[in-house]
Amino acid sequence: MTIKAVVFDAYGTLFDVQSVAGLTEAAFPGHGGTITQIWRLKQLEYTWLRSLMDRYEDFWSVTRASLDFTLKALGLEATPELIVRIAAAYDALALYPEALDALKGLAPTRLAIFSNGSPSMLTNLTRQARIDGLLETVISVDEIRAYKPDPRGYRLVEDRLDLSREEILFVSSNGFDIAGAKAYGLTVARIERIAPAALRAELTSGAIGPAAMFKALRMQPEQLGEPADLTISALTELVPYVAARR
Ligand code: LAC
Repeated sequence: MTIKAVVFDAYGTLFDVQSVAGLTEAAFPGHGGTITQIWRLKQLEYTWLRSLMDRYEDFWSVTRASLDFTLKALGLEATPELIVRIAAAYDALALYPEALDALKGLAPTRLAIFSNGSPSMLTNLTRQARIDGLLETVISVDEIRAYKPDPRGYRLVEDRLDLSREEILFVSSNGFDIAGAKAYGLTVARIERIAPAALRAELTSGAIGPAAMFKALRMQPEQLGEPADLTISALTELVPYVAARR
């Protein structure tokens, strides 16, 4: 199998969504951890619900609405301005520590992002992390107005890169995204952001907090019959894998 392009999911794969925790904790002391997890869980739920309802709104709208939901559920007061200010944390997420080395090491392979993020969110995100110059293109579901894992999104990647689906290595940590990409026929690498033994230790330690619940729900392989072609524990593992298949 020849790999002609590597396409990354953004949130949770290149960028750490947990890096909003400092801001949520500063805004609502004692609640940062809970807000961060419910917000991300609800954000993805809203993408699926809006797609199923045929009521697409872009990811910035979904990000604000899911934060609003979270604060209301916790009985926390926030003005619309504060909600926008906290939601803007999604435009300034931290790159995972090894992401930059991986992107640099993968050159000259064609590199892209395919994400639920709106075009302006993804522009802000890639610019502030200074990875925009390493990417050939950034593809948003906004073009098809339907969220992952709608197969039309993965088809958009194939069309935009003008490659056959198995020549595209798609990389994600999100179980639903891995299953969707694999069901479409892309070659898929799963980035395992929490080792199974570490998660089991967290889940059996007695008091299970919101972060452990999130890891159990969203950072595991789904049981949908569409497993990834390979699993890696750091993005830099892609460098030799792709070099051997170019
Ligand atoms: C994305 C979601 C899956 O970046 O996090 O598309």
